[in-house]
Amino acid sequence: MANNGIFVSFEGPEGAGKTTAILNISERLQKEGQRVIVTREPGGIRISEKIRNIILDNEHEEMDGRTEALLYAAARRQHLVEKIEPALQQGMIVLCDRFIDSSLSYQGFARGLGIQEVLAINEFAIGKTMPDLTVFFDITPEDGLSRIVNNDSREQNRLDNESLQFHHAVYEGYQRLLQIYPERIRSIDASLPANEVAENVWKLIYSQLI
Ligand code: TMP
Repeated sequence: MANNGIFVSFEGPEGAGKTTAILNISERLQKEGQRVIVTREPGGIRISEKIRNIILDNEHEEMDGRTEALLYAAARRQHLVEKIEPALQQGMIVLCDRFIDSSLSYQGFARGLGIQEVLAINEFAIGKTMPDLTVFFDITPEDGLSRIVNNDSREQNRLDNESLQFHHAVYEGYQRLLQIYPERIRSIDASLPANEVAENVWKLIYSQLI
């Protein structure tokens, strides 16, 4: 079935400010009369939110890296068929907080499973459906993590608790992805004040897609 919608994913290290910017963009698009859904990974629908709880549970210290990668891919599959693809088929704009690039960067690069290996299991999960545009929120791991620590309302999960070295590897993983997918992934400076970040994301989405 033809997809007439627009699929935008948002990526970046912890604390990059994606969620705030996505809500801002969603409101602006709706004011313009666009039909928008905001969703997130891992999660977005009932089964995938349950998988999210298993993956991110602080008690699950013994979780194997491949198990983790497969669970993210499983959550992504269900999210795609149940929510993202139907919305795209109805011509909606889908704004998704994280998608395949998180798996490629966190599991493929930072966990050392291999970007190509993790890409292969994700291709099994999602087939040919890729974002039309991916916005990378560029912020150093130190700056991102300090925002999380200063945000009392946000719960620390199992991946937040990884070492700073791991988060540096995640950042480096994203830099690799920017080289592999220069057309699809576009970087914005996420160290700026939130309103400037949102404005820059807005301009990017508008110039690329609408
Ligand atoms: P978040 O919703 O706070 O971004 O938390 C999700 C965590 O899961 C975050 O640390 C990034 C991580 N993650 C992966 O490692 N791989 C993935 O494929 C996705 C979607 C998220």
